[in-house]
Amino acid sequence: MTLLEVKNLEIVVNTGGKTLPVVQGVSFQVNEKETLGIVGESGCGKSLTSLAIMGLLGGTTVQITGGEIHFDGMNLLELSAKERRTIMGNRMAMIFQEPMTSLNPVYRIGDQIIENLTQHQKLSKKAARDRAIELLELVRIPDPSERISSFPHQMSGGQRQRVMIAMALSCDPKLLIADEPTTALDVTVQKEVLDLMADLQNRMGTAVVLISHDLGVIAQTCDKVAVMYRGKVVEAAPTTSLFQELAHPYTRGLLNSIPVVDHDVEWLEAIPGRVPTLDETLAGCAFHPRCSMATELCISTPALTTHYKQGHSVQCHFAGRETS
Ligand SMILES: Nc1ncnc2c1ncn2[C@@H]1O[C@H](COP(=O)(O)OP(=O)(O)OP(=O)(O)O)[C@@H](O)[C@H]1O
Ligand SMILES: [Mg+2]
Repeated sequence: MTLLEVKNLEIVVNTGGKTLPVVQGVSFQVNEKETLGIVGESGCGKSLTSLAIMGLLGGTTVQITGGEIHFDGMNLLELSAKERRTIMGNRMAMIFQEPMTSLNPVYRIGDQIIENLTQHQKLSKKAARDRAIELLELVRIPDPSERISSFPHQMSGGQRQRVMIAMALSCDPKLLIADEPTTALDVTVQKEVLDLMADLQNRMGTAVVLISHDLGVIAQTCDKVAVMYRGKVVEAAPTTSLFQELAHPYTRGLLNSIPVVDHDVEWLEAIPGRVPTLDETLAGCAFHPRCSMATELCISTPALTTHYKQGHSVQCHFAGRETS
């Protein structure tokens, strides 16, 4: 059953007297217990999309200007701020890239988890403390009854990220959005945290949206993938279908950019150039300046999303064709 459906989401950024489109017609669905990976380079609109789902876009700089977000039978963009907050604490949770920005450095981690629990669930102090210890155990923090008294700076980066996962799971959410949850961690710790998330997801039946710029991480952990480029979903498919055939030249470039751990070079430069900035207006397909296959058509005419194969959609005039 569909748990989350994002339909034609449009987000703009108001900056320097201009209104610039930053998320343009993004659509995807996540079923219950499913993991969707969203992948793309820096600045493609991955975080803004997830903040929009969480209801965390406030103020006048970044605004949702179109589309719908349905979650668990509700049309989120039509709810009041108060109703959104209730959902955020209970049925939806988010883990951010850098746990130090989300954990309060002056409070013990136990107290932060306990506060989260007492705020969202009607638990007594004692029951919340027991549950906090249980949660720390669940995320494999050694000696949880002792570590509950630690301050964030007394823990390693990987442990802090585990604490964040414990907090996110404390309300037993139906959907967990993890925005680059392991980017700040070194490779071995990264794998441990991803394995932990997969294990917890299996046990608790949580649906996950995992955001990463690393297609390798997504391939290992997700049921399906949405590839974003400059505010648009340019390719989307179940993971197995996607890897049978990467139909968009951008996705092929991303695959070749998977970090090479054993080499001195950290990244393979597979895609020349960079993501165009928001104020660069480009006719045609936004990927054309970096695409080895681009023709006059790509320069003049935007590519529309087409059904490439069963469950596999692509936004490219030359979907599936390799460079000659
Ligand atoms: N508050 C803001 N004010 C102005 N521009 C913003 C704001 N938030 C995001 N942007 C711009 O919107 C674009 C998309 O940002 P977003 O954070 O969603 O990218 P991302 O795909 O998550 O990138 P990263 O991989 O670096 O996290 C970027 O160009 C960014 O500079
Ligand atoms: Mg981001």
